[in-house]
Amino acid sequence: VVARSRFEKLVRAACTVALLSMVLSTAGCAWVVIHSAPEKTAVASNSRLATRAKAYFWDALHGALYEELPAVTEALTEAYLEQPADPEIALLLAHAHLWKVSERSRLATQDATITDELILADRYFSEAMRLRPDDRRIAGWQGGVRLALGSIHNDERLIREAYYELDGAARAFPEFNQFSASFAMSAIAPDDPRFPEVVQRMWNAADLCIGTPMSRTEPVYRPDPKKLTTTGDARVCWNSEIAPHNIEGFFLAFGDAVSKSGDAQTARKLYENAKRSPSYAAWPFKGELERRIEEVAKRTEAYRGTDRLQWPQTMINSPYACTGCHAG
Ligand code: HEC
Repeated sequence: VVARSRFEKLVRAACTVALLSMVLSTAGCAWVVIHSAPEKTAVASNSRLATRAKAYFWDALHGALYEELPAVTEALTEAYLEQPADPEIALLLAHAHLWKVSERSRLATQDATITDELILADRYFSEAMRLRPDDRRIAGWQGGVRLALGSIHNDERLIREAYYELDGAARAFPEFNQFSASFAMSAIAPDDPRFPEVVQRMWNAADLCIGTPMSRTEPVYRPDPKKLTTTGDARVCWNSEIAPHNIEGFFLAFGDAVSKSGDAQTARKLYENAKRSPSYAAWPFKGELERRIEEVAKRTEAYRGTDRLQWPQTMINSPYACTGCHAG
């Protein structure tokens, strides 16, 4: 009897070991197979299709031709399918979807499916990041997209992941992504415990850009001539071919954040900085800024109400959320 039960124990033990190693080897095997997959590496495409699709995107964004987006997206998607490893195509395609949802108030009807644009933007930002891993701007854009997705899908985990993606992006490229993080978070309620961060990140970006802390009471965005550059990280502090009214758009968003925080006086002074931009006269959204300056006290007061539908529109929810900086 003793001999038999020892034999049975042995069999059982052997079977357990066999089963365990089978499970382990299947999982281990899958891990090795997946992780040894070849990396997707960048291949720039100079095909006619790709060249035309890129130019088409920029003509539309710089011309504020939102209604061209379906055709622009079609052209970029065709180019992507032809060469899914071109980083610029993937990046512009992500932006085409992001622009579509960001300036949705331009559309005659508000369809629920507009939110799906964010899913597409997320996917193409992921592709762009794999193809151009050293482009530190992408995490700032993707973090904003994911923050919106987390809130739409009521996915608290995704919201937290997105927040840390934005925060990491802001550390890696603060001149650009302190703004990106603030802008993406600017739709939250003014009494949210995170709202002060929306304002703080704007100050951080401005301080870094002018090379000295900007006065909190008399904020004047006066560039240190040494910092005026079209290259390096500080290039994003000024107007450029890519963003011809960057300064104007930045101070529109900055003033909005400070107004929403309850400080009308400082908001007005921040808005005034947009007028110091050398290209202000040609800015298509001057009227919006000047109306904000006139109504700043009333607008600031309106954010105190509990009905968020009554809150004044801020740049992030406006028909110039992208074109505010890029059109012109
Ligand atoms: C406050 C101004 C501002 C706003 C608002 C803004 N951008 Fe930009 N955008 C910039 C700046 C600055 C750059 C960086 C240019 C650089 O890297 O030199 C940029 C870069 C880009 C690029 C260039 C990518 C590349 O190929 O280099 C695209 C595309 C773009 N933005 C699209 C958008 C879209 C879509 C929105 C709306 C969701 C938007 N932007 C909102 C200022 C802005």
